[in-house]
Amino acid sequence: AHYLELCVWRENYASRTRLFHRNISRTLVSRFFKTSSSCKSVMPAWVIDKYGGNDVLRFTKNASFPVITYPNEVIVKVFAAGLNPIDVSMRGGYGAATMSMKRDPLNINQRGSEFPLTLGRDVSGVIMECGLDVKYFQERDEVWAAIPPWKRGSLAEFVVLSANEVSLKPKSLSHTEAAAIPYVATTAWSALVNTGGLTKDNCAKKRVLIIGGSGGVGTFAIQMLKAWGAHVTVTCSQNAEHFVMGLGVDHVVDYTAGPVEVPLAALDKFDLILDNIGGSTERWALNLLKPWSGAKYVTLVTPFFQNTDTLGIADGMLQTTATVASKALKHLVKGVHYRWGFFAPSGSALDEIREMVDSGQIHAVVEETFSFAQVPQAFAKVERGHARGKTVVQINKGTDGA
Ligand SMILES: NC(=O)c1ccc[n+]([C@@H]2O[C@H](COP(=O)([O-])OP(=O)(O)OC[C@H]3O[C@@H](n4cnc5c(N)ncnc54)[C@H](OP(=O)(O)O)[C@@H]3O)[C@@H](O)[C@H]2O)c1
Repeated sequence: AHYLELCVWRENYASRTRLFHRNISRTLVSRFFKTSSSCKSVMPAWVIDKYGGNDVLRFTKNASFPVITYPNEVIVKVFAAGLNPIDVSMRGGYGAATMSMKRDPLNINQRGSEFPLTLGRDVSGVIMECGLDVKYFQERDEVWAAIPPWKRGSLAEFVVLSANEVSLKPKSLSHTEAAAIPYVATTAWSALVNTGGLTKDNCAKKRVLIIGGSGGVGTFAIQMLKAWGAHVTVTCSQNAEHFVMGLGVDHVVDYTAGPVEVPLAALDKFDLILDNIGGSTERWALNLLKPWSGAKYVTLVTPFFQNTDTLGIADGMLQTTATVASKALKHLVKGVHYRWGFFAPSGSALDEIREMVDSGQIHAVVEETFSFAQVPQAFAKVERGHARGKTVVQINKGTDGA
């Protein structure tokens, strides 16, 4: 009975709060911003109504307008949205069990309540409304952010975010360029800094290997590590060699020329390995680390979501914990550290990255831009792989010259 009461109270409270904020939101929208005529309660967006291939993407002019539910939230008008491999994976249902749990921890809603679902993890735009507790931002601030995968994404005219996920956009970048950075940057930051223990003060001369250096995460990680003084080796295909050298890489190994572990084993050992490829790399990569020196292998390719998708939340988490613990122990006895890295939304990391961008240490690497009408083509581009930087969708183009 207590549980039911709690659910009813929670539902009533949420709908009252939504109504209250929607009214305020509408007033502010009409006062400060010229938006498309229908955006008072609905807005244009790309959504999916079920998981599947590119054909499930649907454009609608009637997506519900985002509302501020918590006082620390802001509504951002989206000028540009970056696409990542995770958008393609999520379109196909990857991580659905974990995302549903994050969205609805009490499991009140019916199955499929996540639809219509809006994808898009990177945003650059302008704040149009702040919740009552937001201190560091104000309306009209130009901002960038990486949106957690369980939240509504940026392939829409507006998006709502927590203020602590948001940061002021670098002044030196257009919105299109800015939208190429947040998701890969906060992922690389989380993997290299939070998990790998690197900082700008301890990175000088450290030997770092990036397996898969030519894509979104790799191109950001290369620039950050070079700015901090590390010696960087990357693996990539031969036709990406020139591209990664241009980003400042010290040594390149072509993975298409034969087993990549052979030339890598001939090099001095590494202090840290960032693995963007996974799979069979785990069999040889940890042998390339300096043993008994605190050296770490951090992989971004983990079975976490597959486990929860196939086994359910409880069994999936149990399986995940057992897997990571046994691998960490197996390598610890050989004197090296085995770790999993994950994307972590962080406005404060983006603040530091903004300074590196505005001082010219990090450049946005936009591979291709698409219009809002071309979202399916943008997904197809990301799905083809072999990225050289990021795919960006321009939304509300023209309003800021993005
Ligand atoms: N755990 C997390 O929270 C998290 C967050 C973000 C990303 N990720 C994962 O991290 C990985 C990298 O993401 P991303 O955004 O950088 O992907 P991406 O932009 O698609 O880049 C992947 C790059 O790897 C290269 N590549 C493919 N096979 C390779 C191999 N065997 N050896 C070396 N390079 C190879 C590809 O180009 P060429 O083949 O042409 O060289 C491509 O440029 C993805 O698997 C993604 O799912 C995980």
